[in-house]
Amino acid sequence: MKNTAQTQLRQFRDTGTLYLSAPEAAELIRRLGLPHCLQQMADHIRADFLRWADFDKSARVAAHSKDGVIELMPVADNHHYSFKYVNGHPTNHRHDLPTVMAFGVLADVDTGAPLFLSELTLTTALRTAAMSALAAKTLARPDSRVMALIGNGAQSEFQALAFQHLVGIESLRVYDVDPAASAKLVANLQGSGLQITVCQSTAEAAKGADIVTTVTADKAMALILTPDMVQPGMHLNAVGGDCPGKTELHGTILDAAKVFVEYEPQSRIEGEIQHKDADFAVTELWQVLRGESAGRDSADQVTVFDSVGFALEDFSALRFMMDSAVRLGMGERIALIPQLADPKNLFGTLAAPVCVPARLKQIAAAAPA
Ligand SMILES: NC(=O)c1ccc[n+]([C@@H]2O[C@H](COP(=O)([O-])OP(=O)(O)OC[C@H]3O[C@@H](n4cnc5c(N)ncnc54)[C@H](O)[C@@H]3O)[C@@H](O)[C@H]2O)c1
Repeated sequence: MKNTAQTQLRQFRDTGTLYLSAPEAAELIRRLGLPHCLQQMADHIRADFLRWADFDKSARVAAHSKDGVIELMPVADNHHYSFKYVNGHPTNHRHDLPTVMAFGVLADVDTGAPLFLSELTLTTALRTAAMSALAAKTLARPDSRVMALIGNGAQSEFQALAFQHLVGIESLRVYDVDPAASAKLVANLQGSGLQITVCQSTAEAAKGADIVTTVTADKAMALILTPDMVQPGMHLNAVGGDCPGKTELHGTILDAAKVFVEYEPQSRIEGEIQHKDADFAVTELWQVLRGESAGRDSADQVTVFDSVGFALEDFSALRFMMDSAVRLGMGERIALIPQLADPKNLFGTLAAPVCVPARLKQIAAAAPA
């Protein structure tokens, strides 16, 4: 670990921050293959959750507005610090923008040097799906083969493929209030080997499903799933309810189920359990992964993964993306921080022309005088 940290720091000092743009992240995932990346992200998340106590954790910092939320998600161990900037604006499609947009940084704890700056919109979709699949692999009945997928927007195909490759799901029953979203999902998953049925309602989709994933976006106390749709033995992967005032499950479902969360202090504010009393029983997933708490108690039990998205998952995802980019020689080195011959002479950078990236020179040259 020490050697890696020293190498990362030397590379930062000599060549700057490694920057992975959205197109390059997509290219990296194409090169490695999506199933491989999902598996790797799940493995990285599991490895980090297993050393839960090593991390300095906090609930994310949220700035709410009428149509959405902007959040900062920090976490650190003794070696690395990471943060993610992420928004959630369900009405963004009116502006031709995605609901969720994100970027983030992985930094060296000893010096504070920002080693890696990356897009995290695509990466968030992968890490959320990998997290969901890891939870389902731990909590769902092992014979689960059919999944209902409610909400067929930006995250949905990633959820579908993570459950296919990591959990063994063979059939999808999909529903979205927007039929065009379901049609897009069907087109994107053509050739995946998944058997897909487009349904006319959530109730129809949930019928006969072993797992129900809800990944809708609406800044309202939506009631996507009601008790009549839940059958004994189901696993519910509730992904879309992830901030105050934004939930998907009827409260009675939670009362009758065993509920698992990522990081309890954050889930009490943002998760499905935000409507429940402070002593409503939940289990943090890391405890099950470490064998310190039981997961599902019986084949008939309903389990709920009340997912909100925790900073540690982004830490794991950033580690994977940085290591992969370095290994594949992808990304570009950028001068995010001034590179100073004399670290005390910041003022000197104003006097002498320093190394300006070619792209910035082009922008300057094109600007009107
Ligand atoms: N838990 C996590 O870690 C995590 C991570 C990323 C995103 N999210 C959340 O997941 C949700 C989905 O994100 P996205 O990027 O796919 O958003 P998106 O806007 O691209 O897709 C959401 C879809 O839900 C559909 N929908 C809305 N209300 C519905 C309803 N009542 N029934 C059926 N479908 C409905 C919309 O038509 C849309 O197609 C968001 O709420 C986002 O905040 C959670």
